[in-house]
Amino acid sequence: MNTIKIDKQHLAQYVSAADINEISAEILAARNTLLAGNGKGNDFLGWVNLPEEQDAAIVESIKADVARLSPKISLFVVVGIGGSYLGARAVIEALQSEFAHSVEPRRPYVVYAGHTLSEDYYSQLLQLLDREDYAVAVISKSGTTTEPAVAFRILKAHLENKYGKAEAASRIIAVTDARRGALHDIAVKEGYPMYVIPDNVGGRFSVLTPVGLLPIAMAGYDIDALLQGARDMRRICMESDSIADNPALEYAALRNILYRKGKKVEMLVNFLPNLKYISEWWKQLYGESEGKEGKGILPHSLSFTTDLHSMGQYVQQGERLMFETFISVDKPSSKVEIPFDEQNLDGINYLVGKTLDEINHNAELGTMIAHRGGGVPVLKIQVPKVDEYVLGQMIYFFEFACGVSGYTLGVNPFDQPGVEAYKKNMFILLGKPGYEGQQLQ
Ligand code: PA5
Repeated sequence: MNTIKIDKQHLAQYVSAADINEISAEILAARNTLLAGNGKGNDFLGWVNLPEEQDAAIVESIKADVARLSPKISLFVVVGIGGSYLGARAVIEALQSEFAHSVEPRRPYVVYAGHTLSEDYYSQLLQLLDREDYAVAVISKSGTTTEPAVAFRILKAHLENKYGKAEAASRIIAVTDARRGALHDIAVKEGYPMYVIPDNVGGRFSVLTPVGLLPIAMAGYDIDALLQGARDMRRICMESDSIADNPALEYAALRNILYRKGKKVEMLVNFLPNLKYISEWWKQLYGESEGKEGKGILPHSLSFTTDLHSMGQYVQQGERLMFETFISVDKPSSKVEIPFDEQNLDGINYLVGKTLDEINHNAELGTMIAHRGGGVPVLKIQVPKVDEYVLGQMIYFFEFACGVSGYTLGVNPFDQPGVEAYKKNMFILLGKPGYEGQQLQ
């Protein structure tokens, strides 16, 4: 099976076999807690068996919605924030051309809303929507989050104005709680098609529910292959008790060992710009799951070689507080070779006949060795290629490792109480009913 693997060769001087032996019992205990469902946050473990237990009727219904809407739209607007949009965006941007809007006009192109409160952003989006045929997925587990609620109110008004109320209702799909929340109530009242986010799946673990599956399918990608990848990775995560044979346990072990050795920052590094949103999704997954009680590795990300020319100096010689996790992709999906130039004024004829991928992989290896030598432990996650199947594996791998890692750290990986503080202040400042007279803090 084409699967993702952990490569420790650039960690040798930082993590010993004895370190791994020492943490093994804790990692296995954390995994057992996760699987037994008797740890903190155990009412949010629905994601663990989700790939196996996915209701086929939901997948078919999503495909039917795609068949119904995609012939008549050029744009699909995904309204959501945090876990209600990052997973879908991560998969779509990993798979689509960097220039998708101009080179893949047949496919509904996915744009995003509800993840920002920028007035300029909405003003520009509305100008685009004036010209394009579009539909909207509005996604919110709680159904009460301010950013998507604001965006949806604006888009609902635009849609109804452009198409009339009945046609607008057929172009809106809600993804939310089965029973509660303002979005649930609006969807029921307006008669929107609706998908449910299971009660026991938290936002950042919800990409394999309709939260991610609907936008990914609407963008034209194979959600069956995505789910198959997740199922196969789940089997690997479940089957092996040996840290060496279980990449999720190994990743959880290595990052906790490094954290205990004072490496408080993890840089997720890629050499393919289309993986940028995988990093954004990963940052939410690990940041919200582990950053609490004054603990947690700070998740950060870099796209090389681009960021070698901005952050490379710091990584090589700045404060030694980080380790790097490289996502290294074996096979590119396309081939571009360096052409011969008789004059060779740029001096790069020595690269003639090499593909860009070969050059990029040499940059990657050179960077790993340089950073390792500069005091940065480098952990490599070897990925066979970027397609729906492998992305499904990656999603489950990172989720499972996150649950194990969070329990190893001793926190509840499935809550996010700290997210409420800014909301309360914003509500006081905006005069939301019920917040009158409360103090900012
Ligand atoms: O991981 C989480 O639960 C959060 O980050 C949420 O995904 C985010 O706040 C959006 O919430 P909701 O889907 O309720 O609008």
